[in-house]
Amino acid sequence: MEKIQIDKPGGYDRLRLVSAPDLEPAAGKVLVSVHVAGVNYADCMVRMGLYASAKKYVGWPITPGFDFAGIVEKVGANVSKFHPGQQVFGVTRFGGYATQVLVPAAQLFPLPPEMSLAQAGGVPTVFLTAWYALRELCRLRPGMKILVHSASGGVGGAALQLTRAFGCEPIGIVGGAHKFEAAKKHGAAQVFDKRAPDLWDQVRRAAPEGYAVVMDPNGEETLMKSYQALRPTGRLLVYGFSSMVPLNRGKPSYLRLATKYFKTPRFNPILMTGSNKSVMAFNLSYLFDHHEMLAEGMDELVELFAVRKLTPLDIQSFPLAHAAEAHRALESGTTTGKLVLSTGAPSP
Ligand SMILES: NC(=O)c1ccc[n+]([C@@H]2O[C@H](COP(=O)([O-])OP(=O)(O)OC[C@H]3O[C@@H](n4cnc5c(N)ncnc54)[C@H](OP(=O)(O)O)[C@@H]3O)[C@@H](O)[C@H]2O)c1
Repeated sequence: MEKIQIDKPGGYDRLRLVSAPDLEPAAGKVLVSVHVAGVNYADCMVRMGLYASAKKYVGWPITPGFDFAGIVEKVGANVSKFHPGQQVFGVTRFGGYATQVLVPAAQLFPLPPEMSLAQAGGVPTVFLTAWYALRELCRLRPGMKILVHSASGGVGGAALQLTRAFGCEPIGIVGGAHKFEAAKKHGAAQVFDKRAPDLWDQVRRAAPEGYAVVMDPNGEETLMKSYQALRPTGRLLVYGFSSMVPLNRGKPSYLRLATKYFKTPRFNPILMTGSNKSVMAFNLSYLFDHHEMLAEGMDELVELFAVRKLTPLDIQSFPLAHAAEAHRALESGTTTGKLVLSTGAPSP
């Protein structure tokens, strides 16, 4: 097999394609020949050595990659749900940037008929993130207004679609006018440019009563403004800190990290109770072994894809060996839709 390996934290040159012995499935596990692996912003954090669960579960060297689509090669003992030759997609706690991945059967799902392998490789992480935020952490009621940051990207595009699917009204913030179309395509009722000097006035005018939910992956840059944009009973969902890392640099600035860390708002529970708002935070990578919840999430998502309430995001594909280019593109902050890596395995 071949895989991308990062031996120690650093820039794009740390993403090296290496050969390794083929994997063999133990009991309960499934060996998948990967056709497409999703590229998630968290993979860039893994490469930079800033991702806590990567250090906790793997350490160095590490092969990044949280999701994939491909074909079952072999199944281990006690696996009856899958068979060799079957098209599947799923999640893995690291290791997706490879031609083979070995996962517990519970982290694997049959490929829905309306999805190609190329599209499916980029679906699980971003849609499960949005599902966990909006379904598991929030109880949405029809008509609620939901504000989504980075709305034209992976999680953002999935969140806009799910908001619509749950009968609510998504409003997006994006980093540039060239991203408006992508956000609108995924259901945003209104889209604002984060660089507009009157951004937060525009955000307020779109929901004078405040937002029921704000999805914020930016960290220090926007968290307090997002909290202030909530209506009473509103929930701020924190799931990323992208503003801690500079655009296009490939490496963190430790001065910037420290400054942003100390400037990150600390929310006071007494004031939160008084204003009747909550702040919630999560990291999906800790939840991949919560198999019951994972199945519930994927089942609901697959049903929504089947009735076309959800559609896979537009993909930009890079060869596996060019993972560095994909990271460079994602860290430019200019991409829309979903970035994926293709292993070049022949299509079925
Ligand atoms: N906690 C979790 O479980 C979880 C799971 C998945 C993703 N996430 C987080 O969700 C966010 C989106 O992830 P994604 O994979 O879907 O990426 P993405 O949104 O497709 O791409 C990243 C986007 O983040 C914005 N951004 C802001 N500051 C940035 C910076 N310094 N460098 C690069 N991009 C920056 C840019 O959009 P705009 O300029 O349009 O804002 C950029 O296009 C990330 O922060 C990621 O860590 C968290």
